[in-house]
Amino acid sequence: MEKKITILGGDGIGPEVMQQAIKVLDAIGDRYGHDFHYDYRLIGGVAIEQTMEPLPESTIESCRKSDAVLLGAIGHPKYSDPKMKVRPEQGLLAIRKELGLYCNVRPVTAYEGLLDMSPLKNDRITGVDFVIYRELTGGIYFGESGRSEDGKYAFDKCEYHDHEIERIVRQAFQEAGNRRNKVTLVDKANVLESSRLWREVFDRVAAQYPSVETDYLYIDNACMQMILNPRRFDVVVTSNIFGDIISDEGSVIAGSLGLLPSASIGEDYALFEPVHGSWPEGAGQDKANPLAMVLSAAMMLQYFGLVEEAVAVRQAVSKCIDQSYLTSDLSEDNAKSCSEVGSYLSRLLMTHAIA
Ligand code: IPM
Ligand code: MN
Repeated sequence: MEKKITILGGDGIGPEVMQQAIKVLDAIGDRYGHDFHYDYRLIGGVAIEQTMEPLPESTIESCRKSDAVLLGAIGHPKYSDPKMKVRPEQGLLAIRKELGLYCNVRPVTAYEGLLDMSPLKNDRITGVDFVIYRELTGGIYFGESGRSEDGKYAFDKCEYHDHEIERIVRQAFQEAGNRRNKVTLVDKANVLESSRLWREVFDRVAAQYPSVETDYLYIDNACMQMILNPRRFDVVVTSNIFGDIISDEGSVIAGSLGLLPSASIGEDYALFEPVHGSWPEGAGQDKANPLAMVLSAAMMLQYFGLVEEAVAVRQAVSKCIDQSYLTSDLSEDNAKSCSEVGSYLSRLLMTHAIA
C-alpha cells in the first residue's frame, strides 16, 4: 500500500515524539511492504515564526492532498499571553475546522503494568477501557465571541445545530457495536438549552440502535464518576468543551498524559495527534514520552484499514510497558529517552519480536 502523510511536528516536544512515530511507521512499512511518503509542513508557533501565520495555506493544501495528517503538538510560552492577536492554538482550531474534523476519538486504557503510576487506587482502575467521542468543530469553541469596547464585558456563544450533533452521536453508537454496547451522553441538560438539543438528537439516534444501552450524565457528575467508577464507561459522547475537559481527566487513569492518542475524523480527511500538549520545558531534551504519538500513528494505520499493522504497533507499545522500557514520566529509575523508546519499538517490529 502507498500512502501520503502530511507531517506536522509543531511546537515543543512535537517534532521529537513525531520522529519516533516515523521510525515506527518505517518499520511497519518495511515489514509489511508499504510505502509511506511524508510531507513535512508547518503549524503553530514554528509556523508563526517562519510565515507569520499559525496555519499557512501551503500546510492546508498538503493536508488536502494527503491520505492522512499526523500532528505532534502545538503551543509555545512565547505566545502565552492570551491577549496576543496571533497564537499557535489558532492553527490547531483552524485545521480542525478547515478539514471538517468533527469527530475526535480519544481512547482511555488502564495498562496492567502501569496501574501503580496512577494516583487512583488499582482496584478502581483495573480493566478500564473506554473511548471519548468529542465533537470537535462546533460548540463554544467556534461560536460567536466578543468583547465590549471598555473591555469589561466578554462573551462566547455555545451553538449547535442538530445535524452537527447527529453525525457524531451516530459515530459513537456505531463504535459501541464494536465494543461493549453502551453509550453515555455527557451534557449539562439541567441548565443549557444546547445540551437539551443534544439529548433530543441522542434519543432519536438511540432509537435506531435498540441493542445499545444508553445513559446520560451531567458533566459535573461525569467528572466524579470517572474517578469513582471509571469501569462504568464504554463509549462517551459529548460536546467540544466537555470532551476537552474529561479527556485530560481520563489521562489520570492511564497514569500519564503521555499515553493518550487521538484521531480526528471528518467526511474527507483525518488527522491523528496525541492528547498531550507541547511541554515546552521538556523540548529538545529527548525525554518526552513518545507513546501517545506512536499510538496515534496506530490509529492512523487502523483508519487506512491496516488492522494487523495497527495491532502490531499496539503490541509493541504493550511490550515496552511490560518490559518497563519507559520515559521518565512513567519510570522512577532507569528511565529511557524519547529516542531510545522509539528505536526500541522499531526494533521490536523489525525483528518480529511481535507476533
Ligand atoms: C486539545 C487541546 C486543544 C483544545 C487546545 C490546544 C486548543 O487542549 O486538543 O485537547 O482545547 O482542543
Ligand atoms: Mn485539551
